[in-house]
Amino acid sequence: MPQAAAIHPSLSVANKVILLTGAYGLIGKTLSHAFLQQGAHVVLADRDETKKAPVQAELAPRYPHEQFLCHELDITNEESCAAVVRVAVEKFGKIDVLINNAAIDAKFDKEHSDDINPSRFEHYPSDLLKQSLEVNLTGTVVMTQYACRQMLMQGSGNIINVASTYSVVAPNQNLYDFGEGVKQFKPIDYIASKSFIPNFTRYVATFYAHEGIRCNAIVPHGIFNNHGEAFLANFANLSPLGRMCNREELIGPFTFLASDASSYMTGSVLTVDGGWTAW
Ligand SMILES: NC(=O)c1ccc[n+]([C@@H]2O[C@H](COP(=O)([O-])OP(=O)(O)OC[C@H]3O[C@@H](n4cnc5c(N)ncnc54)[C@H](O)[C@@H]3O)[C@@H](O)[C@H]2O)c1
Repeated sequence: MPQAAAIHPSLSVANKVILLTGAYGLIGKTLSHAFLQQGAHVVLADRDETKKAPVQAELAPRYPHEQFLCHELDITNEESCAAVVRVAVEKFGKIDVLINNAAIDAKFDKEHSDDINPSRFEHYPSDLLKQSLEVNLTGTVVMTQYACRQMLMQGSGNIINVASTYSVVAPNQNLYDFGEGVKQFKPIDYIASKSFIPNFTRYVATFYAHEGIRCNAIVPHGIFNNHGEAFLANFANLSPLGRMCNREELIGPFTFLASDASSYMTGSVLTVDGGWTAW
């Protein structure tokens, strides 16, 4: 008789305290539910206060209020980073895992699009580049610094950075060619700011290797969010698996990195991209 299936205890995140930035977004909400379902304590931190009440209303009937906390966080603001760490420790006593998930994917607006195509590299506005670097690069560093100060006091910590396929390869601009109107391109700001994440991960991992803090990155790609038919068709053609990622397919990889099952991993970049970077 085969034994009843059981999940290996090292994969458990029960009772771990997880500080999740960008928690009210697409991936953030998926992970919040998943970690709470698995018995973790979650600090949901996000800049967008308009989303706080709806997220709280979604979580409150499903999980005990002792298990989670929603707190305002702007990772570009040092005091805000310090405050979220302080509040997390006041409520839960420690921070086991920081997930650096907050980021922006700047969109150009009408102001930037007179008679030129602002998504083309040679015309991309430097103010939007600076804005993305401020959040995705500087903000990620500052948030990590404040979490590391706490993790050093604890003697342990685990950091998961959220990268992108555009951290490791250039965008295939054919993905954004819908064959009508002005041609759109994936602009440079996201690529410039996200390319930093894998090497930042290696920097933090090796810096703290002897001080109990490990750091890995995850590379998601193309999470389905009611995209239009033309985009889905382009994506299917260009992706080895022939489809976008369902948000639930990120739960396993994030749980693995947040758990002790990945205890011998640091400085790694875990790719979850349906094979996008494999050809
Ligand atoms: N969605 C995808 O297909 C995809 C693919 C690859 C990588 N990613 C990465 O996954 C992460 C999450 O993406 P998403 O699709 O859930 O994005 P999203 O836009 O749905 O969520 C991002 C959240 O970050 C918050 N945020 C932005 N700036 C902030 C700041 N300064 N301080 C605190 N919070 C801030 C926003 O308010 C938002 O709630 C990002 O790092 C993104 O680069 C996403």
